[in-house]
Amino acid sequence: MKKKVTKAVFPVAGLGTRFLPATKSIPKEIMTLVDRPLIQYAIDEARAAGIKEFIFVTSRGKSALEDYFDDAPELENALKKKGKTDLLEELRSTNMDSGAIAYVRQNRPQGLGHAVWCARRLIGAEPFAVLLPDDVIAAEKPCLQQMVEAYEEIGGNMVAAMEVAPDKASSYGVLDVAEDMGSVVRVKGMVEKPAQGTAPSNLAVIGRYILTPKVLQNLNRLKQGAGGEIQLTDAIAEETEAGNVNGFRFRGQRYDCGSKAGFLQATVAFGLARPELRDELSDFLTHMVALPKAAQ
Ligand code: UTP
Repeated sequence: MKKKVTKAVFPVAGLGTRFLPATKSIPKEIMTLVDRPLIQYAIDEARAAGIKEFIFVTSRGKSALEDYFDDAPELENALKKKGKTDLLEELRSTNMDSGAIAYVRQNRPQGLGHAVWCARRLIGAEPFAVLLPDDVIAAEKPCLQQMVEAYEEIGGNMVAAMEVAPDKASSYGVLDVAEDMGSVVRVKGMVEKPAQGTAPSNLAVIGRYILTPKVLQNLNRLKQGAGGEIQLTDAIAEETEAGNVNGFRFRGQRYDCGSKAGFLQATVAFGLARPELRDELSDFLTHMVALPKAAQ
């Protein structure tokens, strides 16, 4: 029987330079979509997939992120006194149990692979999930849950994949597909940020993974040889030779909240999905879109 995936790593040690100056003092993962920080979307998705242990790879200047998960007794008391039970429930749903959450530091931003490697002792010899909180995925069934269900059938390493336009492939890790079985594709190679026109397919990897401990061993080796950034893609790609990597076409809409345009799109989409905001926001958007046309 395959081991259940109960641990998830959240690499949140990046510098977030695309959101400077905001990220000078606010971790990117605390930036809010409507009223919830990005990290909350990732935590909720992981919980829905059955994750019990949450491992954060953090860095300098991320203490707001650690505080976010603590109980907030003063706030809770104030809400209780005012009878704001809905808000109280909402607030309590963000608390994390003591012991369910662990932090490990990445002392220098040496890349995503290095960040995951920093969590190796907390992961141990089990399969584990990795979620990048700046990829936010709107889906009927949360993306990681879809992946865990597929993983329970087929095992191995699994990366979330989505079709991208050929001119966008150079911004992603791209899959070289051995066999396309619909929602699952067997992968024979992976290339990180291929040069324009050289991508082996239009299937790009996004920030959800289920990985075997073997990938940690590969990272260990890469760590010893690396001068610059250590790529997670390279460590996973080593497993393709053994036919042990699958791409998973998830059902849902992914927003790249690590970029300004993606963050704004997600803000609009998640705003429109809220019944209490929908009408006002859509009236406003219709008006805004009409404006430049009227000016012509
Ligand atoms: P990004 O490539 O988006 O980098 O990292 P970044 O530093 O967060 O943002 P920009 O590009 O400077 O604006 C993807 C994910 O990997 C994590 C980030 O925190 C993010 O969740 N990461 C990246 C690390 O944890 N450590 C690193 O050394 C690099």
